[in-house]
Amino acid sequence: MNSGSRSGRSTGWTGRAAPRHLVLGIESSCDELAAAVVEGGLRVRASQVHGQCEVHRPYGGVVPELASRDHVRSVTQTVTAALDEAGIRASELSAVAATAGPGLLGSLLVGLSFGKALAWRRGIPFVAVHHLAGHLAAAELAAPRLARPYLGLVVSGGHTALYEVGDGAPPRLLGQTRDDAVGEAFDKVARLLGLPYPGGPAISEAARSGDPRAFDFPRPMQGQPGLDFSYSGLKTALALTCRAHAPLSETLRADLAASFEAAATDVLVTRARRAARQQGLGQLAVVGGVAANRRLREQMAQMARAEQIELFFPPPELCTDNAVMIAAAGAKLLMAGEAHPLDTTAFSRAPLGELPWASSSVEHAEAIKMG
Ligand code: KG4
Ligand code: ZN
Repeated sequence: MNSGSRSGRSTGWTGRAAPRHLVLGIESSCDELAAAVVEGGLRVRASQVHGQCEVHRPYGGVVPELASRDHVRSVTQTVTAALDEAGIRASELSAVAATAGPGLLGSLLVGLSFGKALAWRRGIPFVAVHHLAGHLAAAELAAPRLARPYLGLVVSGGHTALYEVGDGAPPRLLGQTRDDAVGEAFDKVARLLGLPYPGGPAISEAARSGDPRAFDFPRPMQGQPGLDFSYSGLKTALALTCRAHAPLSETLRADLAASFEAAATDVLVTRARRAARQQGLGQLAVVGGVAANRRLREQMAQMARAEQIELFFPPPELCTDNAVMIAAAGAKLLMAGEAHPLDTTAFSRAPLGELPWASSSVEHAEAIKMG
């Protein structure tokens, strides 16, 4: 994780473990503007999440321009609310951490620019955080027993990937989706079923009264070796079934939701089991928005018991996007002696552990202009 960022110039940060340090985290990579204060890298003093469901619901998905505009409107009040909740003033902060990517550039730039400006104004270190490092940090914060090396499964709206999370080196990618992310599949299937945005919680709710064995949907990549995932075939199978049964009754909708959820989560469970066996890892952390899914939590728990793997899920509110995870990941970097210059910019894509803002890519140059 550390090598995913540029080491600091004279930041004033000593790099020593600092139990009372207060880190403000800011997350704005997609459609949540979140701010949190974490003390000593572990204790959550405040967590505020400003969601935008109402803004995007009429469109059935996130509209990037609307997301960034809403972030601009909410960033000051959300950060202020987090400081109030923590009972501190900005002058008491030790450092600021903000998500630099991956995500929507316009959205990222709002939280990142605000965070850099605040750090500059207060003369405190700034640290840029990779969004996926944040998701993994949520599991580590919630369960101090979770110790590296462990197996990390990231399941969100933009990512479906397995990592070996080791000490002293960036997490090693073991497998990832070849097309849609699992959360993206939940969102698209919800739209096909006429369920509201965001799709994951809506499908989970509809599935409660459905039969997960009503439709035998494909478990993509199941019979194949390796640790990659694929979700576009499952989505297409569901689309064809919907068309064949239209118009959908309430019962049919519930059965389709339950059967899709079963297929989508089965694949995650079998891939995680294979990865744990293959890598010989005894601890598994499942993180990201889809990790809030009830069926996934139950199925993973069953598998973990059978395999004698220790399983960790952050609490649901730390699975979906939040700023506690960014503050926690930032605190880890700061304690390892890292801090980043104020020309650090946003990136829309980059594997966990790489240095996108050190490259001279066009995207990098353009993001600087936008910033
Ligand atoms: O991590 P996250 O909040 O944002 C990204 O980094 O993408 O994940 C959002 C994704 C969305 O696709 C949403 O539908 C899904 O997580 N999600 C769920 C549940 N809650 C959120 N999927 C299934 N079941 C849930 N309960
Ligand atoms: Zn996320």
